[in-house]
This record gives sequence, C-alpha cells and structure tokens, in this order.
Amino acid sequence: MAFIIDGKKISNEIKDELKEKVAEYKQAGKEITLAVIQVGHDPASTVYVGNKKKACEYIGIHSLAYELEETVTQQELLDLIQSLNKRDDVNGILVQLPLPKHIDEDLVIQTISPEKDVDGFHPQSVGALSIGQEGFVSCTPAGIIQLLKRSNIEIAGKECVVIGRSNIVGKPISLLLLRENGTVTICHSRTKDLKEVTRRADILVVAIGKPKFITKEYVKEGAVVIDVGIHRNENNKLCGDVDFEDVEPVVSAITPVPGGVGPMTIAMLMYNCVNAVK
Ligand code: GUN
Repeated sequence: MAFIIDGKKISNEIKDELKEKVAEYKQAGKEITLAVIQVGHDPASTVYVGNKKKACEYIGIHSLAYELEETVTQQELLDLIQSLNKRDDVNGILVQLPLPKHIDEDLVIQTISPEKDVDGFHPQSVGALSIGQEGFVSCTPAGIIQLLKRSNIEIAGKECVVIGRSNIVGKPISLLLLRENGTVTICHSRTKDLKEVTRRADILVVAIGKPKFITKEYVKEGAVVIDVGIHRNENNKLCGDVDFEDVEPVVSAITPVPGGVGPMTIAMLMYNCVNAVK
C-alpha cells in the first residue's frame, strides 16, 4: 500500500500558517493586497479565479478583482498592469491565463513588475530561479516541493525524472529538484524509450497532459509519483496523467487526483502574496 500524499491536508496546513502570519502583519499595520485580472468569461478561469479570491478571504489577504471584457485591447490591459505596478497598496498582480488571441501573453507577463509577480512567470523570476537567486517561484512546482518535504521524502541524491518541459511546470520543477540536490532528467515528446528513463526514477513528476498515460510499466517499484495532470474522463470524473489504480500498488508514495498537486497551487500563490510584503 502506497502512502497517499494528501495535498488537501498539506495545503490547509500552509494556508493556516499563512493566516497566522497575515494576522501578525495586520497587528503591525501591514495589509496585503492581490490584484486579480481576468479577461473574458472562460468558465474554467472563472472557477480558478473564484478559488483564488476565496483563499485570499480565508487568509486575510485583500483581493481586488478586475473583470475585463474579451474585447479589451492589449494596450488597455497593459495600462491597467502599469497602474497596478505603481500602486504602493498593491503587493501582487495576477493575470489569469489563457488570454484571448489578440493579446500577447508574453508581453503581458513581462509588463508585471517582478516585485509583484506572484505567479513567478516573469522572465526575471524564472532567471533568478535558474541561477539560484531570490525571486518568486511558480506556484505548482513550489507546491510539489512542499508536498515532498512535508511528507518527509528526501530529494537530495535521488534520481528525479520529470515528464514535460512547460514553462509553468516542467522546467521550473526540474530547477527546483536540482536546487534540492536531486539528479534530474527531463523527458518530453521526443524522448526515446520513455519507459526506460522513467523506470530509473526514485521521484517521478508527471506533467504530460494525457489522461492515465502512466501505467505501472513506467515506474520502478517503490518510487514516489507526483501527478500534475487533471482531466475529466468519459464519466465526468476527474483523473490525472497517472493511472492511479494501476500504479498505486507498486509505488511507495503517490499523489491522488483530485486532492494532490491541485490544492497546492493556490496555497503557494498565497505564500507568494504573503512574501511579496517587504
Ligand atoms: N491558468 C492556469 N493556471 C494558471 C496559473 O497558475 N496562473 C495564472 N495566472 N493563470 C493560470
């Protein structure tokens, strides 16, 4: 029986720790404010943004909601970000992605001041991570490290294999595992003999974007498996990139979907907001 890494429980612990810290800040006269910008009415984005606002409320962070129409011009969005960059009472700025096609996402991300980049997407934040300097770390990868640490899973010296090389998950989690002294291999769509590589992993992080792709043939007995995927199957049930029922009996620890990596993203966003306060 594998140890089930309970992301819901760990994320609640983190949120409670942050709530205490925010209360201390309040006593010292410091308020924390996160500006959340949503463009258009994508239903998934509306759910994510709603959850972020709820987490802010729980922790005691003030949230400013900007709901812009799908037709907003790129310049109008950039102007809003620049005005928020200048405001001393705004600590963090988050632009929910994806954005409509007529808006250049990279340009939007680059316009957010790195001091307020609580998503950790700005090239300066990513650059800082890659050379071991201080900066915001993107939330899902930071959450994965917390899941491992708070489950007492050693990273140093371990064979860590990451499947996926996205800017939001694959690349930053690889850098974080390296920072924790893991031996890191990154796999992607052009990797030859994926199974041969993933079977070497002591810690396997799966961010491949294909439902139930990873079966027991891909994992070494006793490995730790972190599933970043989230999909709805034909019965409208949530599932990950890992075939949980197939893999769970052969591994030592595994994250479920839902209730694994998912809840950690918002907890780490809150962590970044609290740490945005100097
Ligand atoms: N869209 C999906 N995930 C995220 C996220 O973590 N941050 C932002 N800004 N947009 C997203």
